[in-house]
Amino acid sequence: MKTIPGKQRTLLLRAARKVMRHAHAPYSHFRVGAALITAKGEVFAGCNVENASYGMTNCAERTAIFTAVAQSGPRLDIRAVAVVNDQGVPCSPCGACRQVIYEFGPEAMVYFQGSKGWKESHITELLPEGFHLK
Ligand code: THU
Repeated sequence: MKTIPGKQRTLLLRAARKVMRHAHAPYSHFRVGAALITAKGEVFAGCNVENASYGMTNCAERTAIFTAVAQSGPRLDIRAVAVVNDQGVPCSPCGACRQVIYEFGPEAMVYFQGSKGWKESHITELLPEGFHLK
């Protein structure tokens, strides 16, 4: 398990905080930003995008990943993901986002605010037995 180099963590947190301002969160009023870094060192970011039909909401983590695929193609190799929110409260990726992170980053480290402060967890700690085909 590799830890996230300090410089990358700073970069990711800055990108996540910046994109968080673009969140569309009129229902929950909970703005989230996420940023990921690839093996090539590219950074992609995303925010949560809510919908009046609540279940259509897209979390910040999935927005970041889908943006990365759209911009850079499907050979995405995620090394680390950082998640921030505008309320400074614990916020780890939801189950659906864990599975999507795992798809493109089976060795990814995830940096998020836990109940006892900031945490860095390997995706397989957050999602044991992640689903994959082949
Ligand atoms: N949300 C995220 O974007 N990421 C998370 O890790 C947790 C939850 C969003 C979804 C919804 O727009 C709002 O936070 C409240 O659940």
